[in-house]
Amino acid sequence: MGTEALIEFDLVEAGYGTLTILQKASLSVREGLITLLTGANGAGKSTALKALFGVIRPTSGDIRLGGKSIVGHSPRKMIDLGMAYVPQDRSLFPSLSVFHNLELGGIMLPRKLIRPRIEEVLERFPRLRERVNSQASTLSGGERKQLEIARALLLRPSILLIDEPSIGLSPKIVGEVFDLLGKLATDGKTILLVEQNVRSALKVAHHVYGMEIGRIVIDMPADRVMDDPAFTRLLLGGHVPEAA
Ligand SMILES: Nc1ncnc2c1ncn2[C@@H]1O[C@H](COP(=O)(O)OP(=O)(O)OP(=O)(O)O)[C@@H](O)[C@H]1O
Ligand SMILES: [Mg+2]
Repeated sequence: MGTEALIEFDLVEAGYGTLTILQKASLSVREGLITLLTGANGAGKSTALKALFGVIRPTSGDIRLGGKSIVGHSPRKMIDLGMAYVPQDRSLFPSLSVFHNLELGGIMLPRKLIRPRIEEVLERFPRLRERVNSQASTLSGGERKQLEIARALLLRPSILLIDEPSIGLSPKIVGEVFDLLGKLATDGKTILLVEQNVRSALKVAHHVYGMEIGRIVIDMPADRVMDDPAFTRLLLGGHVPEAA
């Protein structure tokens, strides 16, 4: 298990047009671990993932991958650097089959690699294999989430960014999704998980950041966080003084 800071946000400011959302946010994601970023609706969690993946460009501060700045890189470049992103919003093509959704995820691969890679990811998702010819719109919520993750894994990323995977899923399926993330980390993948379902996420997370109105206010190991009064306040929506 690696402990290097693979990803670093260094006083990042980012937002939309003239609207600044991330307010000098600093955090680091260590290699081979699951880092949880949590906080209330609108805190800026998804914005942080978008800034990292190159969907939006920070206006100040730096984001580094393996010590090198990646500010200004396109999402395509981030994929080439081994990053995969499962966004919060639905990103599947509902009228296409499971297979075709996977195929589109592998569109950047050499043609002859696509089928073997689809085979490879289906090994992890027996339920998707059973439904491989079904239209994505006919999948259950849990199956759709599996398909989104499977598609992200097609390019064999070393880093997975995943935004609120538990939304709309029953507790049992949430458990399965987090178990899968735990296995991926055990296999060596680095995961930045945005999630408000903290109790479930803490079963697999190693480190926790809490965000409040664009600021990082909690920064601590996962096994300590539930005993921390500031974290409890964050969960309950109370104000938390900024982390030192
Ligand atoms: N494309 C956009 N244009 C303008 N403002 C945006 C855009 N996307 C998000 N925002 C605003 O940025 C702020 C942070 O949004 P963000 O989606 O990062 O929050 P979040 O922490 O992911 O919230 P949630 O838990 O609800 O997903 C919100 O006030 C939101 O309205
Ligand atoms: Mg969000």
